[in-house]
Amino acid sequence: MSEPWSARAAAYVESDAHREGADLDLLVAWAEGASTALDVATGGGHVARRLRDAGLEVVTCDPAPGMGPDVICHAEHLPFADTSFDVVACRTAAHHFADVRAAVREMARVAGDRVLIVDTVHMGDDVERAEVLRDPSHVRNYTDAEWRELVLGAGLGLDDVRFLEHTFDATAWLARTGCEGDEAERVVALLGGRIADGRVTLDKIAIRAVRGA
Ligand SMILES: C[S@@+](CC[C@H](N)C(=O)[O-])C[C@H]1O[C@@H](n2cnc3c(N)ncnc32)[C@H](O)[C@@H]1O
Repeated sequence: MSEPWSARAAAYVESDAHREGADLDLLVAWAEGASTALDVATGGGHVARRLRDAGLEVVTCDPAPGMGPDVICHAEHLPFADTSFDVVACRTAAHHFADVRAAVREMARVAGDRVLIVDTVHMGDDVERAEVLRDPSHVRNYTDAEWRELVLGAGLGLDDVRFLEHTFDATAWLARTGCEGDEAERVVALLGGRIADGRVTLDKIAIRAVRGA
């Protein structure tokens, strides 16, 4: 198995950092009025679970078979027809995509009405180094300006952009990717004041983008 995610599936289902968060509540609120949704890079399936609880019919996709998605695919090549889903949601995953521009274009193509994106936002070079050390599959956290350009470049309109702080258990966060020993110490040092009392706080951006704006 060449991708690292399938082996980590149980940890991402259980993860406090993924199971909970004000961003999940925001995604549900932003999906209001929709009937169908695609959860891109579903991981432990937390977005899908919350949208289903809210009454939406949800299809999940992810390239890692172990995550148990409905459809196995990369965000850069979504095997769905144009405008297949009212809502396309993608949470805490775009920083792993090899080609985020292609992924946002694909999400815009298959969305009938809106694209909802949540991701860790760029917090500087030290945090980027910490992220890659902790998880070599990390590609990049994008800045607010980069996100706006990606979304507008995909032909979507920006309807709402919010910033949230996300705080979660530091030990579990390191353990999920098998980061330990000297490497874990370097990650903690690079994060500086973002780790306190055994908890990490990272900044997130949440974007509500719409078609035809
Ligand atoms: C942190 S987990 C996802 C978290 C999940 N969306 C949630 O809200 O809990 C990241 C996921 O991105 C997936 N992934 C990695 N590269 C991808 C790509 N190019 N396209 C789609 N998904 C990808 C991984 O398989 C993994 O399941």
